[in-house]
Amino acid sequence: MPRSLPRRAAGAFASALLAATTLTALAHSATAADGTLGSAAAAKGRYFGTAVAANHLGESAYSGTLDREFNAVTPENEMKWDATESTRNTFTFGAADQIVSHAQGKGMKVRGHTLVWHSQLPSWVSGLGAGDLRTAMNNHITQVMQHYKGKIYAWDVVNEAFQDGSSGARRSSPFQDKLGNGFIEEAFRTARSVDPDAKLCYNDYNTDGVNAKSNAVYDMVKDFKARGVPIDCVGFQSHFNSASPVPSDYQANLQRFADLGVDVQITELDIEGSGTAQANNYANVVKACLAVTRCTGLTVWGITDKYSWRSSGTPLLFDSNYAQKPAYAAVLTTLGGTGGGDGGGGNGGDPAAACTIAYARTSDWNDGYNGEVTVTAGAAPITGWTVTLTFPSGQKVSALWNGSPTWNGDVATVRSTYNGNLAAGASTSFGFTVMKNGSSTAPTLGTCTAS
Ligand code: XIL
Repeated sequence: MPRSLPRRAAGAFASALLAATTLTALAHSATAADGTLGSAAAAKGRYFGTAVAANHLGESAYSGTLDREFNAVTPENEMKWDATESTRNTFTFGAADQIVSHAQGKGMKVRGHTLVWHSQLPSWVSGLGAGDLRTAMNNHITQVMQHYKGKIYAWDVVNEAFQDGSSGARRSSPFQDKLGNGFIEEAFRTARSVDPDAKLCYNDYNTDGVNAKSNAVYDMVKDFKARGVPIDCVGFQSHFNSASPVPSDYQANLQRFADLGVDVQITELDIEGSGTAQANNYANVVKACLAVTRCTGLTVWGITDKYSWRSSGTPLLFDSNYAQKPAYAAVLTTLGGTGGGDGGGGNGGDPAAACTIAYARTSDWNDGYNGEVTVTAGAAPITGWTVTLTFPSGQKVSALWNGSPTWNGDVATVRSTYNGNLAAGASTSFGFTVMKNGSSTAPTLGTCTAS
């Protein structure tokens, strides 16, 4: 502010500034809920991230979806010990650098994954004696963190150091077996000394509910906080399927860790399944994070089912054609994301009518296939929807049901008929039969607009 302004003018200037700031904040919260995972999460003070593999960044649908939807990334394999130091003291950062510079270019947070882990560990490490192993561990942490210093939001310093089951014991690993329990504390102390600005996390799976394994991690974190061992966050991998469902005490478990004075993060979320069941499970995980103030963000373990580490379980939010699945709509709606409005924040009126779409091929034969598009209402009830779809040239749609199409070349504009009224978050679908005429490619999903 200019120093020479008289006091009253300065006051007027200050309140004009304040008004402008308030307007910007309101405008931001309106656009922030505009229908992507990242922006909807940001409106709730969270990030929404995904695991990324460097070798897919050149695929336009992959990086297009990444850039549109996510505001944080975790390198899926590129920062692990076997990728960064496969030979002792020779460091390779090319693939991880590609991900970090992509993320930085787009203003995305980066979670560093992971420094000390028994898996994807080169055999030269497991072969070392205790003294040498301690030196190698501290050197590895130092070199990798130094390389990315200032660029990492949070590091998974130690990954999966506890055993499954009821013992509550540490998992056997070269680190545990040769250095004893103290290796975890030592890794965190080294990490803090290298990059004091990165949040330091302990990360594990099967710790998502209250159980013997999470109790053991809880006791360790409590002890670290009591003794001043540097730890800032606990990551809950959250890999779920029918044998390992979302626990009913998921939120309570996140909360008890947060109450120890650490942030909590959902770090590797994927939930096997499909349709409404999968969507509801995803919604429950997002709800739990939103209900815990110190849950700072969620990361799904991949963008598309096509490249998931457990692809056959179709555990992600986008199908193998990058179409949004019902789970995507459920996550977005739970985050308060809509086609506009205030995202449920209560400061900008009711959420606007909005919808999302997901595509599935329901049957396939020699010269034809059936497709189905699921339409899901956003955070407000809707009274009608319009979906655009582009079919590969040559294909002919011989039948279409539960929707009313108009055609412009290969582009179909499909309107709701009897099925336009949907409650907030509810779904309906329309279907069609396609004659392939030589092309089996799926139609490209366009927009969904709601009234
Ligand atoms: C997985 C990757 O997704 C796979 O590509 C790789 O082959 C094995 O590791 N817990 C973790 C992640 O902390 O690093 C693992 O990632 C999944 C389980």
